[in-house]
Amino acid sequence: TRIYISQDAASLALGASRIARAVAETASTLGQPIGIVRTGSRGLFWLEPLIEVETPEGRIGYGPLRPDDVASLFEADFLAGGDHPLRIGRLEDVPYLARQQRLVFARCGVIDPVSIADYRAHGGFKGLDRALACGAQEIVDRVKASGLRGRGGAGFPTGIKWGTVLHAEADRKYIVCNADEGDSGTFADRMLMEGDPFTLIEGMIIAALAVGATKGFIYIRSEYPHAFRTMNAAIAAAIQAGWLGASVMGSGRPFTLETRLGAGAYICGEETSLLESLEGKRGVVRAKPPLPAIAGLFGKPTVVNNALTFASVPWILEHGAQAYADYGMGRSRGTLPVQLAGNVKRGGLIELAFGVTLREIIEDFGGGTFTGRPVKAVQIGGPLGAYFPAHMLDIPMDYESFAAEKGLVGHGGIVVFDDTVDLSRQARFAFEFCAKESCGKCTPCRVGAVRGVEVMDRIIAGNEPEKNFEVLEDLCRLMTDASLCAMGGLTPVPVMSAITHFFEDFDRPRTLPA
Ligand code: NAI
Ligand code: SF4
Repeated sequence: TRIYISQDAASLALGASRIARAVAETASTLGQPIGIVRTGSRGLFWLEPLIEVETPEGRIGYGPLRPDDVASLFEADFLAGGDHPLRIGRLEDVPYLARQQRLVFARCGVIDPVSIADYRAHGGFKGLDRALACGAQEIVDRVKASGLRGRGGAGFPTGIKWGTVLHAEADRKYIVCNADEGDSGTFADRMLMEGDPFTLIEGMIIAALAVGATKGFIYIRSEYPHAFRTMNAAIAAAIQAGWLGASVMGSGRPFTLETRLGAGAYICGEETSLLESLEGKRGVVRAKPPLPAIAGLFGKPTVVNNALTFASVPWILEHGAQAYADYGMGRSRGTLPVQLAGNVKRGGLIELAFGVTLREIIEDFGGGTFTGRPVKAVQIGGPLGAYFPAHMLDIPMDYESFAAEKGLVGHGGIVVFDDTVDLSRQARFAFEFCAKESCGKCTPCRVGAVRGVEVMDRIIAGNEPEKNFEVLEDLCRLMTDASLCAMGGLTPVPVMSAITHFFEDFDRPRTLPA
């Protein structure tokens, strides 16, 4: 009997390996032959650690498990899908998953992440097969027509970026994957790399064919050791199978791929400091222009895209640009892998077409707060994203709708807070984070963030509030207008949204933070 247990970092943190060991030991004691496949996660973290067993009715899930549940699983004959209080049934029938539109994450949690045969058997490499039959311009045109926009946060049209690199004259071009997923509450890049790394590799190969690049790098944050290992194993398997190397799938076109590990700096998720870091230098932001698409890694034309952007491309090539564009709303086409975290009952990965509201995600999928207290605020788009109050949860997930409310979709991370949160502390935290993570290149951010913490401390203490609010607003305007990159430029977003929507938290003196 085949049993599937995730080895995604979140599942491991919840004890998945202890369950795997207990199942293997008990099966061996009972003389029951089993084979355990370690997969990525389905992204339903509230059900982890989760076991799925292959039965004639499909894969039957049991969870969330503790090691001392294992004996009772065997007693209930779970290997034949037997009844048990923790029996979930087929995961595909769980509404949390059934209601999703999994295009990018379809295979995640289902396959053995580093088995090319498994990847193939689940439809893998079909997009690349199509791309190999197309000319470079045709691939770019298809990506353009799909409406795919950069999933790192800025939402720039991917096809236009690729077109710029394709038409740039150079002896060498690069593909760089930004997997320096530093935003609070985000984990989609990690889940993908740990659960379905070949989709990312396939997307990067297609990008290379589209722009004529011969070398690619995946820049992974150092906090993701499991993703780093899985990615390296997948690349080795792809080289062995001839997907990567001197002649991609016998096409005569070369493309090689390597991983690089970051060193723990949030700013290295900004594309130009990422490139500096890849070149072996300190991760300091470069002024733009020139755009990386014209002069990027080692001064050569470079496609820099987020992992989810590349991973969306195989589906587009396989099913057609129009099929992808049929999902979504307005100028936000396709699906967004939303990451639901913070104080929420059912956190996890929710891939849905753009247009779903925050309320549907937090209430229908998330089931409200973990503490059972009312939702007070949600922050979307990472530490530089806006805080929205509970009465604004009907905003649809869409780049333009968020911009209209002075917020950002960012990388799709949602962090939920209950009514015990103090938004004045969160506003202070935004400056503190910026002060810590600033690369230091420009004054508005380097100095402004430190001044921001000081002003917030005075406001929290109730010290000359009127004067200090004026200073704060002035400082926010300056950082927005004069910072060189989004780090300093967007730090005022969480601060100003907290003041706008939660003024009651600023309007009375507090004790100074320790
Ligand atoms: P940007 O708007 O300057 O550029 C977006 C992307 O498009 C970049 O890769 C840029 O090189 C490329 N680009 C722009 N014009 C181009 C052209 N004509 N041809 C080819 N490529 C072109 O944004 P940037 O500085 O990369 O990121 C800032 C944005 O990122 C913010 O607006 C914010 O929404 C988002 N952000 C996301 C965060 C996250 O972690 N998810 C955190 C902070 C900001
Ligand atoms: Fe560096 Fe901050 Fe300026 Fe960006 S805004 S270049 S992180 S100092």
